[in-house]
Amino acid sequence: TAEIKRRFLAHFEANGHAVVPSAPLPAIDDPNLLFVNAGMVQFVPYFLGQRTPPFARAVSVQKCIRTPDIDEVGKTSRHGTFFQMNGNFSFGDYFKEGAIPLAWELVTTPVERGGFGLDPERIWVTVYLDDDEAAAIWRRTGVPEERIVRRGKKDNFWSMGIPGPAGPCSELYYDRGPQYGRAGGPAVDEDRYLEFWNLVFMQYDIADVRSKEEFRVVGELPARNIDTGMGLERMAAILQGVDNLYEIDEVRPILDRAAELTGRRYGVGSGRVAGESHPDDVRLRVVADHVRTALMLIGDGVTPSNEGRGYVLRRIMRRAIRAVRLLGWQDPVLPELLPVARDCMAPSYPELASEFDRISSYAYAEEEAFLSTLRAGTTILDAAIAQARAAGGGRLSGEKAFQLHDTYGFPIDLTLEIAAEHGLRVDEEGFRRLMADQRARARADARARKTGHADLSAY
Ligand code: SER
Repeated sequence: TAEIKRRFLAHFEANGHAVVPSAPLPAIDDPNLLFVNAGMVQFVPYFLGQRTPPFARAVSVQKCIRTPDIDEVGKTSRHGTFFQMNGNFSFGDYFKEGAIPLAWELVTTPVERGGFGLDPERIWVTVYLDDDEAAAIWRRTGVPEERIVRRGKKDNFWSMGIPGPAGPCSELYYDRGPQYGRAGGPAVDEDRYLEFWNLVFMQYDIADVRSKEEFRVVGELPARNIDTGMGLERMAAILQGVDNLYEIDEVRPILDRAAELTGRRYGVGSGRVAGESHPDDVRLRVVADHVRTALMLIGDGVTPSNEGRGYVLRRIMRRAIRAVRLLGWQDPVLPELLPVARDCMAPSYPELASEFDRISSYAYAEEEAFLSTLRAGTTILDAAIAQARAAGGGRLSGEKAFQLHDTYGFPIDLTLEIAAEHGLRVDEEGFRRLMADQRARARADARARKTGHADLSAY
């Protein structure tokens, strides 16, 4: 993985790009964003014309957090809450005619000549519906018509999901072969055809973003720009010949240590096709992914709390700890796993090693606190169970389950499990209704904050 980063930077540096370090994970310039979620985030003011870039071309390896798909982690081969994005950027310099050949050259140049050595025959590309220009450039570059697929806004129009720069995009996919799924290209099976690089042709300013397909184009950006993002972990999975991004060299050791501690064997009976994994495998992947994410977040100064960034971190840590308990390990686990994650990541991020005392003290304290939450929640739950039984009902109320979840941070799956052990059912429908009400309140709040992109350049 380190070598992939190095080659990416070297390729673009040799082509006139300034090497720019990753921005820290907490997004500080944009009130609409908790975390940096793409390589382009630190360059938004350049795209919008609010600031003049000191370079016309840049390249970076950006640390990113994305959690909307957190429930997919471990179940598919390609979702991670923390990942790194290799990106090259043009600020009013080259456009499609430059970005496409630059990407193609890097991925198809043989390994011994500094490229990634992918077989050109296994690469598919997508372009936005009416983007004949990009399709023509791909054909000229050497991709045959039958592997150029046109897709709509949902897949081939990229934005940050909030007001700001956006544009049609063109993605590169690698065919991992029939053992991963059905033939027919990325529109048919995104596990077999793994997206690894997204080239965005940044040319619009958008607002009123309601979904990937519903937004308002406010106008053209002052210049036509390029923003690309190659999923580093995905490329590593392809080049290391492993099934998924939890098995690459930067993540697998965490997974192995968790398997060793819990006495589970990873990969037994798991299918390669999404949805066929053994539940233990999914949990081990969740642990590996989330422990690494926690390390990176605390490393960048986020601390666990009940709101905003701190809550995202807390939720990720609790999911990891919970997954380990379900695998049969009840003691504090972070002292076992966090040092492994540090050793995986410190070669690229040396500050993780030099600041490990600070990072680990937050992490271990949080785990201790959660374990006492679990103990306290168990006491309250036991009392509620006794009450429900005394009342003769075979059921625990939705309000109680919600209160345990909301006030004590006690996970619903644990409530269900313990109630079942006592022969009680839980009013899950009532619980879900209360959860939905709470989510609707949160969404209304988020909508209220997404009405426009504030120009913060003066600050
Ligand atoms: N911003 C685009 C993405 O995140 C390309 O870098 O996919």
